[in-house]
Amino acid sequence: MLTPRKIFLGGSVAAAGAVLGVSRLVPELSWAFVPVGVVIALGVYDLFQEKHAIRRNFPFVGRFRYWLEIIRPEVHQYFVESNASGRPFSRELRSLVYQRAKNVTDTLPFGTERDVYQVGYEWMNHSLRALHPPDEAPRVVIGGPDCKQPYASSVLNVSAMSYGSLSKNAILALNGGAKLGGFAHNTGEGGLSPHHLEPGGDIVWQIGTGYFGCRDAEGRFDPGRFAEKSAIEQVKMIELKLSQGAKPGHGGILPARKVTPEIAAIRHVPLGQDVLSPPTHTAFTTPLELCELVGKLRELSKGKPVGFKLCIGKRREVFAICKAMLETGILPDFITVDGGEGGTGAAPLEFSNVLGTPLNEGLVFLHNALVGTGLRDKIKIVASGRVVTGFDIAHKIAIGADLCASARAMMFALGCIQAQKCNTNECPTGVATQDPDLVAGLVVGDKAKRVYNFHRNTVRAFVELISASGVSARRSSGPGTSCGG
Ligand SMILES: Cc1cc2nc3c(=O)[nH]c(=O)nc-3n(C[C@H](O)[C@H](O)[C@H](O)COP(=O)(O)O)c2cc1C
Repeated sequence: MLTPRKIFLGGSVAAAGAVLGVSRLVPELSWAFVPVGVVIALGVYDLFQEKHAIRRNFPFVGRFRYWLEIIRPEVHQYFVESNASGRPFSRELRSLVYQRAKNVTDTLPFGTERDVYQVGYEWMNHSLRALHPPDEAPRVVIGGPDCKQPYASSVLNVSAMSYGSLSKNAILALNGGAKLGGFAHNTGEGGLSPHHLEPGGDIVWQIGTGYFGCRDAEGRFDPGRFAEKSAIEQVKMIELKLSQGAKPGHGGILPARKVTPEIAAIRHVPLGQDVLSPPTHTAFTTPLELCELVGKLRELSKGKPVGFKLCIGKRREVFAICKAMLETGILPDFITVDGGEGGTGAAPLEFSNVLGTPLNEGLVFLHNALVGTGLRDKIKIVASGRVVTGFDIAHKIAIGADLCASARAMMFALGCIQAQKCNTNECPTGVATQDPDLVAGLVVGDKAKRVYNFHRNTVRAFVELISASGVSARRSSGPGTSCGG
């Protein structure tokens, strides 16, 4: 297959040959060797450097992206991101992640870049009794009374994204970053793959309606397979996925183009077809059965923390789950609440744009539902949905979370440029594709370091913020930090 690399190499040979031929015929044109040689030299350098996936994947041509950025960000925005208005993350936020991931200066000259009188402006109140930020980042212990292997989690972890949706190198780099930084990496509903395990980082194993990795021949939950995999030491927690903010009420979608033989084998699904998980679970139908399954998963995993993830939809259903918890006495160790603004590898437009409660409203509601039913102190809440900055972590904790998870910011740390090609298998940075030529552009060692840097610098920013507000980092878990807006 013709790839940009092969086109570059073939084109270079052809151009060098053409210049040679022309210069023999017309010696005065020998100077043409110089520009052609420069282009070839730069392209060859691009092929072998390890920092920029775009330049590895698109030798020489990929440089235009960076040149446009240098000449003037707005020009770059106009040409390369002409439909930027509809995109979920601003250039400013992405730049912040890139800076933190590269460990370069992330301070700002001149002052606030926000219109502080704009509706929706959010801020945080500092204290005249600001504290010195501690060196150690805070940890949050997850595991209720029935959990025998509690997990001391970072306040920021990698949110669920499957191998299949993301490339092998992306998974290796995310888990490598998690290993370096002591945080957790959620597998996503695509199952636990060897690439999740290889680097040795902590894992949250997510189980969706497809039960990938723990399903029988009919696609139903298989307790034996679950027990076997959950015993792996690296698996620190289990997350049952009920719904996801970007497509609540819709099962997972992995387009056929991204289903490689290896992925088909990991998931126990056929090749050449879209992998569509059902919208709801078959292992339970009622809230009481959900609680029973949570208890069973905890037992089968020998007491590891078990929780579930959902985007808040109908409020009465959340109360029904609380009622079932009270009735059975079986509680999840954590609940992950995902905002309707959450990301995905592939979803129908209407599902992404209008379905599901946004994170702030969903989080406040879930927190209050658990407080009102007397369950809040026994269950940790994880928040996900556009958590990118230290302020985002502080904000979510202030309004009800104990800790946060981030998906797309972690993708930016991997080098994602928001090309929005996750569903086409053509991701130019090798993050969200299974095309081996594009995946090769993502250098695992370099990007694992960036994921680690991004996590460390963001958690640091969070600790500094709450210290400025006079809140001790040891007290940072649980609502209490003061935010405004
Ligand atoms: C490429 C991609 C794949 C995802 N796959 C899953 C998944 O398998 N299971 C899941 O629960 N959420 C999945 N999500 C949702 C994220 O885990 C997260 O809940 C959501 O994107 C909100 O976080 P963010 O705003 O930090 O991206 C995926 C998101 C993205 C961008």
